[in-house]
Amino acid sequence: MTQHQDAIAPHGGQLINRIATAEKRQELIEKADTLPRVQLDERSLSDLELIAIGGFSPLTGFMEQADYIGVINDMRLSDGLPWSVPITLSVSEEQADALSEGSWVRLDSPDGKFVGVLELTQKYAYDKELEAIHVYRTNDTNHPGVKVVHQQGPVNLAGPVWLLERRPHRLFPSYQIDPADSRLLFREREWKTIVGFQTRNPIHRAHEYIQKCALETVDGLFLHPLVGATKSDDIPADVRMRCYEILIERYYPKNRVILAINPAAMRYAGPREAIFHALVRKNYGCTHFIVGRDHAGVGDYYGTYDAQHIFDEFEPAELGIVPMKFEHAFYCTLTGGMATNKTSPSAPEQRIHLSGTKVREMLRRGEMPPAEFSRPEVAAELVKAMRVTAGS
Ligand code: ADX
Repeated sequence: MTQHQDAIAPHGGQLINRIATAEKRQELIEKADTLPRVQLDERSLSDLELIAIGGFSPLTGFMEQADYIGVINDMRLSDGLPWSVPITLSVSEEQADALSEGSWVRLDSPDGKFVGVLELTQKYAYDKELEAIHVYRTNDTNHPGVKVVHQQGPVNLAGPVWLLERRPHRLFPSYQIDPADSRLLFREREWKTIVGFQTRNPIHRAHEYIQKCALETVDGLFLHPLVGATKSDDIPADVRMRCYEILIERYYPKNRVILAINPAAMRYAGPREAIFHALVRKNYGCTHFIVGRDHAGVGDYYGTYDAQHIFDEFEPAELGIVPMKFEHAFYCTLTGGMATNKTSPSAPEQRIHLSGTKVREMLRRGEMPPAEFSRPEVAAELVKAMRVTAGS
């Protein structure tokens, strides 16, 4: 397979593959019991997966210090390539002291299974406050991303990794479409322009509206909900996936949409995460990426359009993927359809929009969000899911 046939090259030019070949796997299995172990948390496990499948190309492993510093300070890897979020494996001082640079480390999943190997090239201490302030724009530990930084160990282990094997996803095997596969699918469908859509929330009509506005101008839509770790009050991934299935079945032209899972963990880093999300979708083969209001934000930490403004800090060619920026969309009772400030002169009281918190409250009370906010089939699925959760 040659890369130049694809609509867009992976970030850095080459799609990384760090899934052990049969031969390599045998070698790793033979050595496994003799190696020191590090147990990954859910986020590091999804990072390992994404590195291995090429979702984080050009990264081949957890970041060394020069890349880490470049990313924290300037949003660039040490060779100058844009990258906005550190991909690191943090451990305690005791764990780090027991490991020597140049050796191999066995990586275990959170439930203790052997999943990969780190070729340890470097271990280094890092400044948590600096990371928090640069990446998350706050050092407030109420921020879920900052909280993780402060809870994790003080030493980063770095080096190339190997994923032992690519297993089908436990819940969504048919939606596990890795970058090499999505690129192939796009080629088969002869899509030249593909817009990627990131989401961690149940789909509502504003999502549908901006996806479809984008779809008016590109060949295909790559719906790419994140199914890795999210904060506890976010709606579970299986419920969100069911909502997508229902919606696509009924309201989308099936030949122009591909639904696939993004195994990544959510960092809630707002603007920096928007760049990161775009680069990951570039690796999956998308040429465009949707950035709406408060993308990847949480609470009031970021301005509504900060995640769009940050794209101006790069030359378009060095990112490669084109951001499609959308203003806050709502249902407009004046014009009788979805709209934004750019397309409707309505007054605030003529606009129907509900915050995620408000919707969660309604669902908990067993109330259906209004049809102007959510398609009734999706609303019914959400109410049903909340009832099951409340009853369990
Ligand atoms: S996110 O954390 O993954 O960004 P969410 O799933 O809510 O959260 O958003 C997915 C995408 O839709 C993001 O690009 C976000 O900016 C955009 N978006 C969500 N709601 C709206 C809205 N009402 N108007 C415009 N864009 C929106």
